[in-house]
Amino acid sequence: MADTLLQDEPDETLTSHNYDGIQEYDNPIPGWWSWIFLGTIAFAPFYILWFHSPTVPRNLHAQFDAGKAANLKLQFGEIGTLEPTRENVLKYLHDDKWLAVGQSVFASNCASCHGQDASGGSSAPNMTDDFYIHVNVIDDIPKIISEGAKDGAMPAWGTKLHPNELLFAACYIAQLRGKNLPGGKAPEQNAKKIDPWPAADAAPTAGETK
Ligand code: HEC
Repeated sequence: MADTLLQDEPDETLTSHNYDGIQEYDNPIPGWWSWIFLGTIAFAPFYILWFHSPTVPRNLHAQFDAGKAANLKLQFGEIGTLEPTRENVLKYLHDDKWLAVGQSVFASNCASCHGQDASGGSSAPNMTDDFYIHVNVIDDIPKIISEGAKDGAMPAWGTKLHPNELLFAACYIAQLRGKNLPGGKAPEQNAKKIDPWPAADAAPTAGETK
């Protein structure tokens, strides 16, 4: 019976597929379908480059870190609003939980200029060496982040970040010091090597706090 029906369409070529007498015409794939398929192939390399961007991380790890940091921010109530003081930078300098927030702030706001691993970008300095342009003592770090520098080449973040985010970004940057990551940018000409950070319980020295 199938044969009789198929004979009504003599122009159509049949494939060799035959499932319980059900057969298939050898029709070409519609043009619109092929174009969409080719489109996905053309799109893929650009998407891969965008997704694995070296400046703004968008991969699963980065998304996980950002999600974790967002969750931690919900706990800001537990520590209150922290002032960007020397005591607070030293207090949270090695606190992994809150450093995760600092790292996330850095990844989404600072990495585009300072490099994903903070080892310096084309315009912005390396944060993993012992050389600094504006920083003389550890509490200068939150100050520079808040106020910016070089007529906005380093933007002012004081009004853009939550005070705790600013403090934890400062802690994150401070604890990167001296890691001297391979491939890091050489110190700027106007940068100088500064004294090591004080121990966490060190009392402020006269003239050092600003
Ligand atoms: C638009 C690019 C850009 C972005 C974004 C940026 N910075 Fe900077 N940053 C700079 C430049 C350029 C300098 C050096 C300024 C100079 O040469 O005086 C700098 C300097 C600094 C310094 C002082 C370094 C020193 O040697 O004294 C700190 C600290 C710093 N940035 C932290 C941050 C943090 C934290 C963020 C994110 C919240 C950030 N920056 C985002 C461009 C940027």
